[in-house]
Amino acid sequence: MNEQLEMEDTMMQDAVRYVKEAGALILELMKQPLQIHEKKNQSDLVTIVDVQSEELLRNRIMNDYPSHWILSEETDGCREDSHHLMLQPPSGYGWIIDPVDGTTNFIHKMAHFAISVGIIKDGVPICGVVYNPVTDELYFGRKHGGAFLNGISIQVGQEQELDQALLGTGFPAKEWKTNSIVVEQIAKITGAARDVRIIGSASLDLCLVASGRLTGFWHDGLYPWDVAAGLIIIQEAGGKISNRAGNEFKLSDDTLVASNSYIHQSLLAVLK
Ligand code: IPD
Ligand code: CA
Ligand code: CA
Repeated sequence: MNEQLEMEDTMMQDAVRYVKEAGALILELMKQPLQIHEKKNQSDLVTIVDVQSEELLRNRIMNDYPSHWILSEETDGCREDSHHLMLQPPSGYGWIIDPVDGTTNFIHKMAHFAISVGIIKDGVPICGVVYNPVTDELYFGRKHGGAFLNGISIQVGQEQELDQALLGTGFPAKEWKTNSIVVEQIAKITGAARDVRIIGSASLDLCLVASGRLTGFWHDGLYPWDVAAGLIIIQEAGGKISNRAGNEFKLSDDTLVASNSYIHQSLLAVLK
């Protein structure tokens, strides 16, 4: 193995180590009463757990990889800036972090939230790690290296038709008052697909597609940290991820459609 591949290997093992450490911290902090703060509105929340999980992850990366760039929600959390950055990502290696994806679930003690870490090289995602500390499920994907759940290879579902599909979606933060676009989209999908779920952690929801539990997922208005890790896990599990126009998904995109690939065109057609 050449030196660069060896270094990437170590980074990926480190990413797994970091998310497990952050997971242990989250489980510990969960035992204490939590102060909940609104960021922009009543459905955009943050706790000390988000902040401390992010601090731990950033400190580990800055210590072990001081020359790498980092984009993380609680430190860099402005949508326009983060999308702008993703239009022309810095060269070299970078880490994109969501320290708790699914904060509302976390606050309501629903065991569907995760730590999401994506590794980027010269603008291209090369590795994704998504870890749910409550269920101890760790999803891992590496470019050209496959996708895994707790070390076991995973694949997308085999449903061939939209009417066999179980789909997921979510509410874009900026639409929190009416959610009118999603409501319209669900109305169009209902009847065409088997059923729709809104589970509340975009990174984990993408992993549900990667592991064949959901057949597809769409979501408008996500941030790079919601998607950077799940993106590669889906691709490596044989799935497809695009924007709503059907073009290859980029971290600067505002719309996302992911699927097992078989139902992709039909899903895009209904969402149009
Ligand atoms: C949220 C979750 C949720 C999605 C929201 C995101 P957060 O992330 O991923 O599933 O529907 O749009 O903002 O705020 O819990 O990190
Ligand atoms: Ca998130
Ligand atoms: Ca978050």
